[in-house]
Parts: sequence; C-alpha cells; structure tokens
Amino acid sequence: MYRQFYSLKESPFNVTSDPAFFFSSKRHEEAFNHLVYGITSRKGMIVVTGEIGTGKTTLCRVLLNRIPRKIKTALILNPSFSDLQLLQMIINDLGIPCQKKNKLDLVGAIAAFLVDQSTQGSNVAVIIDECQNLNIRQLEQIRLLSNLETEKEKLLQIILVGQPELNEKLQNPGIRQLNQRVSVRYHILPLEKNEIKSYIDHRLKTADANQRLKFTDPAIDLIYNYSQGTPRVINIVCDRALLAGFVRETFTIDENIIQECVKEIKGPILSEVMKI
Ligand SMILES: Nc1ncnc2c1ncn2[C@@H]1O[C@H](COP(=O)(O)OP(=O)(O)OP(=O)(O)O)[C@@H](O)[C@H]1O
Ligand SMILES: [Mg+2]
Repeated sequence: MYRQFYSLKESPFNVTSDPAFFFSSKRHEEAFNHLVYGITSRKGMIVVTGEIGTGKTTLCRVLLNRIPRKIKTALILNPSFSDLQLLQMIINDLGIPCQKKNKLDLVGAIAAFLVDQSTQGSNVAVIIDECQNLNIRQLEQIRLLSNLETEKEKLLQIILVGQPELNEKLQNPGIRQLNQRVSVRYHILPLEKNEIKSYIDHRLKTADANQRLKFTDPAIDLIYNYSQGTPRVINIVCDRALLAGFVRETFTIDENIIQECVKEIKGPILSEVMKI
C-alpha cells in the first residue's frame, strides 16, 4: 500500500528470509565466518543456533549465494523427512544422477559422489535448517552420513541449524556420538542496539526507498526496546510504521508512530509471526 508513496521497488521489511536484504551485523558476520571456516577446513559437523527470528534461515541462504562454486551444496529447509527422503533430497540438491530407490544404493551414490568430488579437490556441504524439530531417528541418520570420510579428511560437511532446543536435543544419550562430532558451534545473538539504525537504513536502501524517508533516533530507540534486536520483530514494527507513516502522509517515522504500531502489534500478530 505504501510502496508508491515511498517510491519503494519492493517492501523493505518483509518477514521472508530474502538474502538480497542481508545486513552483515557483527553476529551474522561472525556466524558466516564460522560456517565458511568449518566448511573449507572440512571440520565435518557444524551447529548454528539462534532464538526465533534471529536470521538463521537468511544466513543459510546467504551462505549458498556466497560460497565458492567449487563447494557443492544442498540446503534442506523442511525437516520432516524420513531416512530415505533425506538421502533423496541430498541427491536431488547435489544433482547426483541416481535412479535407485533403496537406502543402500542412495548412500552408495552419495559416497561415490563425495569421493569423486574430493579427488577433484572439491568439497560438499549439506545444510539442514529447523533441526530443533528433528527426532532422534533422523539425527541418527545424519550421524551415519557424517561417517563418510577417508583416513585423511571428512568428505561431507554437515551444518545443523536450529533454535536453541537443538543443543538440548544433541545432549540426548542416544546421539551422543553425533554431539561429539560437532567441531564448530555458533550461537547467533540478536542485533546490538547500535546496529538497529544501520539495519533499518540498509533495508530501506536495498528497497530503493525515497531518501526523505527517515526513522528518528527516538523511534529507533523504541524499536530496539521492543524488539531487543530480533530482526523479525524489527521488520514487523517497521512495516507497520511505514503503513502508519503513509496514512499520515509523512516521510518522518517518529516515536509516536512506533508507539502506536507497537500497541497494535502486541499480542496476536506478534505471537503468530514469532510462532510463540
Ligand atoms: N542479518 C540480517 N539481515 C537482514 N535481514 C535479516 C537478518 N537476519 C534476519 N533478518 C530478517 O529477519 C527475519 C527473520 O529471519 P529468519 O527467517 O532468517 O530467522 P530464523 O532465525 O530462521 O527464524 P526461525 O527461528 O523462525 O526459523 C527475515 O525477514 C529476515 O529477512
Ligand atoms: Mg528459520
């Protein structure tokens, strides 16, 4: 609704995990570097956690876009898979030619692909999002995949991404071996207070916003107080604020607008989007 008024080429505060809007906050940059380090130095198992809406899925997508082409990647976003489906998804994503349907053949095809890539000096990474929802059986299947290695190096880099409950899950005695294999861990914290303004400006700029459109400093302070730096909450508030600004025909988003939006958002809308 407000896009034309603010000359936006797209909505700057969508709640989708669009890598085009990625803002390199201190934590996101660190998380990214941990991932690249873990993958390129073939650390095998990497775990990235973060509270709801802190940017885990966005980070996975950014990683896929930025990782050198030489590293083959598979991204699994939907964690509701059976043993067989997981293997099939990996095969499809990596583009491994395999018509077989049974588990042993699928594992065999993946193993052959990994060895082939390794001899060509390439590397393979599988990123699995929403891992807090995996059950022990699925995690056990992942552990089996992590066995694919030579005496010298890990052939497959596995990145488990999820909300903090993932760490609790990994403590389960049934999958202790999986937990022991994790060699790189990173927990993404929300944005720091001094990053909020740059985050908002970055998203506005990416959407080509009219330069007259400004969030005042007190408005940004309020957004921080309310969101505590969680990007998804910031987006929800800012999206509302632009709508309110449009209704008032103003290019200045001040603390009164934010206060009004926060009042509206508190409760049902927020709990739905934050899945709480
Ligand atoms: N570093 C970032 N730069 C730009 N936008 C971000 C960043 N981090 C998060 N966001 C935005 O915040 C919102 C939530 O991000 P995302 O979906 O990646 O979070 P999540 O941690 O995967 O959440 P969940 O726990 O619900 O899976 C998205 O709109 C995303 O674009
Ligand atoms: Mg996510």
